[in-house]
Amino acid sequence: MKLCMIGTGYVGLVSGVCFSDLGNTVYCVDKNKEKIKLLNNGKIPIYEPGLEEILKKNFRQKRLIFTTDLKKAVQNSDIIFICVGTPTKKNSNSADLKYVYQVTYELKKYIQKYKIVITKSTVPVSTGDKIDKILNSKKNKKLIDVVSNPEFLREGEAIRDFVYPDRVVIGTDSNKANKILKSLYLPIIKKTSRYFNTSRRGAELIKYASNAFLATKITYINELANLCEKTGVDVKDISFGMGLDQRIGERFLRAGPAYGGSCFPKDTKALVDIGNNFKTNLSIVKKVIKSNDNRKLLLTNRIKKILKNKLKNKSITFLGVTFKPNTDDMRESSSLYMIPNLHNKGAKIRYFDPSGYKKEFEKFKNVKFCNDIQSACNKTDLIIIHTEWNEFKLLNFKKIVKKKKFIIYDMRNIYSSAKMKKNRIKYFCIGR
Ligand code: UGA
Repeated sequence: MKLCMIGTGYVGLVSGVCFSDLGNTVYCVDKNKEKIKLLNNGKIPIYEPGLEEILKKNFRQKRLIFTTDLKKAVQNSDIIFICVGTPTKKNSNSADLKYVYQVTYELKKYIQKYKIVITKSTVPVSTGDKIDKILNSKKNKKLIDVVSNPEFLREGEAIRDFVYPDRVVIGTDSNKANKILKSLYLPIIKKTSRYFNTSRRGAELIKYASNAFLATKITYINELANLCEKTGVDVKDISFGMGLDQRIGERFLRAGPAYGGSCFPKDTKALVDIGNNFKTNLSIVKKVIKSNDNRKLLLTNRIKKILKNKLKNKSITFLGVTFKPNTDDMRESSSLYMIPNLHNKGAKIRYFDPSGYKKEFEKFKNVKFCNDIQSACNKTDLIIIHTEWNEFKLLNFKKIVKKKKFIIYDMRNIYSSAKMKKNRIKYFCIGR
């Protein structure tokens, strides 16, 4: 099939590259000329393991076309995916749909024969109705099927999530569109996943409901971790014991810092806003947002307590600053709260992250990026394992710190408390 992905961010680029790998011809369009130039040179503007290889292969085979020419891409395609960003609006909780509507009005100019237009971007319930109204004016009634097909990819695992999805959700009541999309997804549905056709509004809501539920699960286990710390129980056992119940499931029950990233914080807020628009109080989601915000403060205070509230000139090392491993994404990472806070209390901070230097910290005089784990940890007072990159899982701390007394605060529960005790290293973790 001939596809057009509008927007070459995470969703558009990963989906576009993976669709081309299934044998489709895919036009990836972006307004940003620099990005398109980069892509045409075989370089990817995001950090996603494995993506570059698949991109290069399909680019060579001419199944992937990177362009700024939206008109040509649309006219040459049968299915058009809107994959532009829907960030949180300034001073509000709602999703900003300006890019979605900009694209919609452009599509209206270029579409002259039957096409399927899909929102893959996360959009509030009823956005599809509005897009439909704009595209299918009286003149060209039923020319375009507007479908919702939300994306469930995780950053850092995006390719695997595309190839082995748990489900493909298609929101449309058009039999024609549904049939075409089923055949588009057939190669991956055959493996393990379910193809689920529902209403357009239903599909839009499934996306928000899923992300808010996962955020709830994380927040829930994080609060229980606080209780575990007070009761001498290991939160890992709680997650495991709970997860054995198939109704609960073991995944997304890893206690840690506040959840972050480009999705959960944005989507939980937007869901509350959607609820307000439809006069529905989503009180649980509201509490999740609050609890997660509190967690940033709670763990920062815990760091201070570990250092007996004497932060002046203390050397603190952050191992990992991104919101999770295998991404360079800093959006809503809890380190963005912790590091400035500790710095302002007089601490000297060094950090190492496998995804490199972060401009977010450049304005802080005493926050320094180190090129490797050793130089970040050398003679430090406190090591904070903030992100669970594989590189941090088998470290010989005594060897790299080269100092008698230092403390480790393992926010991802990577190491064993017992082994640390045996090695006489002062070790703190989460919910244990
Ligand atoms: C999330 C969803 O998992 C995807 O299904 C969805 O498609 C995506 O949002 C999106 O809406 O685009 P992502 O934000 O990439 O994916 O990252 P996750 O792996 O879900 O992690 C989010 C946050 O939760 C991270 O800060 C992570 O450290 C935290 N987390 C996750 C925990 O603290 N504990 C867990 O058990 C799992």
